[in-house]
Amino acid sequence: MEMKMLFGVAVVVAMAALMGVFAGEGEKGFSFKDNFDIMWAEDHFKTSPDGQVWYLYLDKQTGCGFQTLQRYRFGWFSMKLKLVGGDSAGVVTAYYMCSDTGPERDELDFEFLGNRTGQPYTIQTNLYKSGVGGREMRHVLWFDPTKDFHIYSILWNNHQIIFFVDKVPIRVYKNTDKPNNFFPNEKPMYMYSSIWNADDWATRGGLEKTDWRNAPFVSSYRDFHADGCQWEDPYPPCVSTTTENWWDQYAAWGLSDPQEEDSDWVGRNLVIYDYCTDTERYPELPEECSLRGF
Ligand SMILES: *[C@@H]1O[C@H](CO)[C@@H](O)[C@H](O)[C@H]1NC(C)=O
Repeated sequence: MEMKMLFGVAVVVAMAALMGVFAGEGEKGFSFKDNFDIMWAEDHFKTSPDGQVWYLYLDKQTGCGFQTLQRYRFGWFSMKLKLVGGDSAGVVTAYYMCSDTGPERDELDFEFLGNRTGQPYTIQTNLYKSGVGGREMRHVLWFDPTKDFHIYSILWNNHQIIFFVDKVPIRVYKNTDKPNNFFPNEKPMYMYSSIWNADDWATRGGLEKTDWRNAPFVSSYRDFHADGCQWEDPYPPCVSTTTENWWDQYAAWGLSDPQEEDSDWVGRNLVIYDYCTDTERYPELPEECSLRGF
């Protein structure tokens, strides 16, 4: 691993320290009302009596979504989710970062695609730069995401974007030092989550329809954590330097050795779709795929 050769053991130790933050261990989630707004269907949102757990409801009338009040550029963004259990075919829970809703938006997505009872959930990730996406990867998980809360996180700096599930990097998306059209790094983003009916495409390509007899469908959230640069207009302080914030520093530019091993394991065992190998869809290899050795 190149980082290790460059910086030696110090990097490994620093990474280990970062992992405490990565896992959100011992951290209390930010409160809902100080950090989020409901986007639509206020009456489909609930919290636990102590305010620590948040629920989004989907029924035949509508789904629901929330978003952060603040935008961020670079950082570490993390939340625990427990997904709709039982027969959840057709139901999609999205958990994502997005610059705005316009056509030129940048976006980093986790989407959880429900399934019929006993069939595995699929986790889809995607990235948009200036309104262009089409960079889907799909993974199966090594646990049932409807049984317990698990941590889903994004590390974002000017060198890489990593999607983590618990402590495991399931997807690493690299930047180059040349100007390019694939790496979102200019626009600050909000974090969102929503639940909706997507039975026109989500489960087995739309073959499996949502069974409304099981409504309402509920996804649960806790322990949101943002350790990132909060954007302020008009002069943003969110300049990426290696001196101030851990997420911009050298140790966060690549994977540690154990992370590299985990990432290889995911690549060998859990990937069920990768746009970089979909030559029918992309006869010409997308530029960023070559950075992964394709
Ligand atoms: C649902 O289960 C089927 C059968 O096991 C599987 O082929 C599919 O990938 C699963 N997920 C989705 C989102 O369709």
